[in-house]
Amino acid sequence: MNNHAGSAAMPRHVAIIMDGNGRWAHARGLPRSAGHRKGVEALRRAVRAAGEMGIKYLTIFSFSSENWSRPPAEVSFLLDLMRHFVRQDVAELHRENVRIRIIGERSGLAPDIVTLIAETEERTRANTGLTLVVAFNYGSRQEIAKAARDLALAVKEGRIAPETITPELLGSHLATEGIPDPDLLIRTSGEQRLSNYLLWQCAYTEFVFVDEYWPDFNRETMQRAIAEYLTRERRFGGLTAQSA
Ligand code: IPE
Ligand code: IPE
Ligand code: MG
Repeated sequence: MNNHAGSAAMPRHVAIIMDGNGRWAHARGLPRSAGHRKGVEALRRAVRAAGEMGIKYLTIFSFSSENWSRPPAEVSFLLDLMRHFVRQDVAELHRENVRIRIIGERSGLAPDIVTLIAETEERTRANTGLTLVVAFNYGSRQEIAKAARDLALAVKEGRIAPETITPELLGSHLATEGIPDPDLLIRTSGEQRLSNYLLWQCAYTEFVFVDEYWPDFNRETMQRAIAEYLTRERRFGGLTAQSA
């Protein structure tokens, strides 16, 4: 956890909920898939902007555990878009020294996607620039429940004592192990909720909600969100010079 209370410095980790693709398309009389396609272009802009601004970690929500409840045709389109993004963009991201991590449940995914995920992580593992964390088939409650199951098994097998289960230990059993908590969370499209995203990790994250739909997201949107973040006073439960 980042424990530097006081005026916020440039965020090290920005998490984004890329929302509003369907409404962007609807407003133009287009099918929802057109919004998702445009959303990939916005994602490329976001990754580039984050890298250039010196952000170390960018986590994006690309498909939630609950998104399986959408019509099958939309789910298939979204899964194909993920395949397409990985095939199309990973080589260039790798050249740009981007490390890619993909968090979320792998069981139940098509085998070719599981292979693509593993190859992508392996290929970019040693990169030292931006870490792009893709939350794909991700749900925070599922992630926390899995950590609880892992710890319960460790207790049952006598590998750890229940008293040793601290927030740090539990955190190290989450998919985000080794990644600092987000400093800033941005959600587009005017919705103001977490939708089962990074519930544990966002304990002290600053939230910025922007009205633009995700396909319209660009460097300027990112800069505005960061400017808003920089006005915030982070306390982490304590007092700062301003508040003492
Ligand atoms: C975000 O846009 C993309 C995903 C959730 C995969 P939506 O598809 O949620 O678009 P809206 O919210 O219906 O406009
Ligand atoms: C959250 O957006 C999931 C992603 C952006 C991938 P949703 O559009 O699925 O969230 P709700 O259903 O509006 O809360
Ligand atoms: Mg949505």
